[in-house]
Parts: sequence; structure tokens; C-alpha cells
Amino acid sequence: MKYELTKDLETGNAMIDREHRELFNAINKLLDACSKGQGRDLMKHAIQFLLDYVDKHFSHEEKLQQDSKYPNMAAHKAFHEKYKNDLKTIVSQIPVENPSISDLGKLNGHISVLITHIKIEDKKLSAFLNNN
Ligand SMILES: [Fe+2]
Repeated sequence: MKYELTKDLETGNAMIDREHRELFNAINKLLDACSKGQGRDLMKHAIQFLLDYVDKHFSHEEKLQQDSKYPNMAAHKAFHEKYKNDLKTIVSQIPVENPSISDLGKLNGHISVLITHIKIEDKKLSAFLNNN
């Protein structure tokens, strides 16, 4: 299964949408590395890339919120913080040697949390940015 930024996930902010697309690419690469048993080094690389990219993307969104004085900034940031921490915990539990599809169950669950966040909170943010 591949994640993709379907129309219903587009927020209308070009930068945010581009980064969400990259984020899905990073997730797909990790899922690929797992399912093809691409080995320890590639797995580690894919995991680190995903963690770094999520960090970078969330801080970009937070900067946009700060610059525009987004009213819901505190709650949005709190979500990001918790999301990053949970993601770190989840990926640290994926065995890098011989991961199976079931090892990825929690990660997939966590991705669906992100998708819901994109659909609701990131869309609200983009609407605010477009109007302010
Ligand atoms: Fe966000």
C-alpha cells in the first residue's frame, strides 16, 4: 500500500502540500524497505530520514503560524510535539533486521492519525493563511 496526497488531503497552501507529499514519499520508502527486506542500513536510513523530515516539516508549519499569529498555534504545536514523540517510540520498536508487515501495524496506525490531522487542522491553518 502506498500513501499519496489525494485531492481531499490538499490544504491549498503550496508549501504545506509539497511537504506533505514528501512526507508520504518518506513513509512509502520506509514501508518499501520493510517489505522488501532491504536490510539494516537502508532501514535505519529510511527511519532517520522520516524522523528528520517530520521535524523539519512541523517546524515550518509552526513558523508560518508564528509569523501569521495563528490563534490555534498552541494546540497545533502541542499535537506536533506529541506526534513526534510517539513516532520516535513507534519506529524504535520496528526491528531493523527482519521487519515483517505486522511490525508496521503501529506505524500505519500513526500515519492515519497524521492524515486526520492534515484533513482537519492543517486545512484550518491553510485557510487562515490564505485569508490573513
Ligand atoms: Fe500540522
